[in-house]
Amino acid sequence: MLSNTFVALSLLPLTLAHFQLTFPKARGFSDDVESNFPCGGFNDVQKQRTDFPISGGPIQLNMGHPQTNIAVYVAIGDNPGSGFSVVARQQLTVDGLGNFCIGSISLPTSLNVSDGTLASIQVVSNNHESGGLYQCADVKLVNTQLSQTDYNNNCKNNTNVRVSQENISGNPNGSSTNASPSTSATGATPSSSKGAAAQAKAVSWVLGAVGLAGMAML
Ligand SMILES: *[C@@H]1O[C@H](CO)[C@@H](O)[C@H](O)[C@H]1NC(C)=O
Ligand SMILES: *[C@@H]1O[C@H](CO)[C@@H](O)[C@H](O)[C@H]1NC(C)=O
Ligand SMILES: *[C@@H]1O[C@H](CO)[C@@H](O)[C@H](O)[C@H]1NC(C)=O
Ligand SMILES: *[C@@H]1O[C@H](CO)[C@@H](O)[C@H](O)[C@H]1NC(C)=O
Repeated sequence: MLSNTFVALSLLPLTLAHFQLTFPKARGFSDDVESNFPCGGFNDVQKQRTDFPISGGPIQLNMGHPQTNIAVYVAIGDNPGSGFSVVARQQLTVDGLGNFCIGSISLPTSLNVSDGTLASIQVVSNNHESGGLYQCADVKLVNTQLSQTDYNNNCKNNTNVRVSQENISGNPNGSSTNASPSTSATGATPSSSKGAAAQAKAVSWVLGAVGLAGMAML
């Protein structure tokens, strides 16, 4: 039954609306190459960086799939290539379309960053047959917080968007947990619930892949 769904799915056009990073401003977005690691095909660092508060700033996304797994990684330095080794937000599942804001991501206190440190942020999602989808932004870390107005303008949730699961182990692109970055923003990676988390991940993968049709069938 499920395989029928997969057959049907494989007939769908590959360029369903994916997800976009809108704050901090992404390097760029192209549906066709968003599945290219790293940064969805945009390898050049932006000349114009967005100021991003060290104390924590929002990540604004525009979701194009009914259910998506997301994680946020950070690389310190002026041109990190593919070295996004810091987990700023562990994998979560978001349900719903359109505006979704992760209210605040912040960096592990063990990182030696200060006002003016250059960094890059990569948001990774699942929902692609060959792995993940990628969006990057280049930022300058600053001690100043966003004004309330800037925060409100760059952190919005559509009414039907919600987080259904948090702190899922592994990388949304489906690469093994071992290969994924290990530095956690909290320093605490849930390990006791590893089996359950892995299973939950598998289930959300299926849901992510087959969408609502699959959910109805389960
Ligand atoms: C998945 O992400 C990891 C690091 O986040 C990367 O090393 C790997 O190449 C990615 N896999 C694919 C298929 O893009
Ligand atoms: C949007 O939802 C996320 C996840 O539940 C939350 O972190 C964020 O603070 C919310 N933002 C606003 C402006 O409500
Ligand atoms: C932290 O960075 C500052 C300047 O960026 C440097 O002077 C200092 O030695 C660094 N400290 C550690 C512990 O790496
Ligand atoms: C996920 O982890 C964060 C940071 O450790 C914690 O604050 C939050 O309560 C956790 N959420 C769940 C649902 O366990």
